[in-house]
Amino acid sequence: MQIADLQYRTVWWQDGAINIIDQTSLPFNFKVLQLTTVEQVAQAILQMQVRGAPAIGATGGFGLALAARLAPAKNFAEFIKKSKETLLATRPTAFDLSYALNQVEAAIAQSPADSAATALQAAQAFADSNVQACRQIGKLGAELIQPNFQILTHCNAGALATVDFGTALAPIRFSKHRNIFVYVDETRPRLQGSRLTAFELEQEGIPHAIIADNAAGYFMQTGQVDMVITGADRVALNGDVANKIGTYEKAVVAKANNIPFYIAAPLSTIDFSCASGAKIPIEQRADEEISYIEDKLIANPNSPIQNPAFDITPARYITGIITDKGIFRPEQIRHLQK
Ligand code: MRU
Repeated sequence: MQIADLQYRTVWWQDGAINIIDQTSLPFNFKVLQLTTVEQVAQAILQMQVRGAPAIGATGGFGLALAARLAPAKNFAEFIKKSKETLLATRPTAFDLSYALNQVEAAIAQSPADSAATALQAAQAFADSNVQACRQIGKLGAELIQPNFQILTHCNAGALATVDFGTALAPIRFSKHRNIFVYVDETRPRLQGSRLTAFELEQEGIPHAIIADNAAGYFMQTGQVDMVITGADRVALNGDVANKIGTYEKAVVAKANNIPFYIAAPLSTIDFSCASGAKIPIEQRADEEISYIEDKLIANPNSPIQNPAFDITPARYITGIITDKGIFRPEQIRHLQK
């Protein structure tokens, strides 16, 4: 892999630092941030400068590799343990984070004498495998898209949310049909749709329009949506899916209107130890994400706020899950365990 190629990724390791595209600056400014301490990595994930389950996983994996370099010899094990806990606590719903951290931790345990190198290799392997997985998702999912299809997506599950290519956006990017159209839910409160998905689709030259979150039902009911594709933050053994808040509503409305509803996710997002969606932890985020836009207060100041970042879409609303190993009905997910 050439350095020039790596720079087109969302997250990459270069010269002893983790490089990320700062997603809080997009679409207005393109900034790359260098992270050189575990605390900086944790803050970048918490502040959502890097976000999207696989991108968080890759960043966390590189973060633990950074810890293996920085750990003082006399309390090496304690430093690694604390670093893993700090990184894991940042975003509890995205499963790729624990998946990548476990892989890097195992690499450290296997060869403690050479841990800096093996940890980095494991982190790099996670990032590289995500690129391959998303490419496969794109190729397989593209076959579902017919000429003139109008597709609805929620949040950002594009290249920015992964290491490259994306999950939900990958089939759209790989489709051979150029006459497709994408409805982009704006995705309150963080606006990943109107800021990031719209930016990516524009870069790719794919026709699209941003719609208010609560307009999705109108477009489905009036026959303007042929399929819905979203990403996933965690897929449970029974095929239930955690994804950005609002996904559940879109799935219910899609089913009510006989519109196929697909999830796109690599195997690293499937939590085989989690029996059902009821067991998936749902991240609760700060009130200010709802009450403020930038510095401006937009809500009644004294009203309490509730801000869950994800919801669970039960398997019965999901037509299929597009993975890097094939497209499966939700009830088939458990068979991928081996
Ligand atoms: O809070 P975010 O922006 O990290 O949430 C992201 C999503 O919900 C994505 O749909 C999901 O991570 C899949 S990304 C390939």
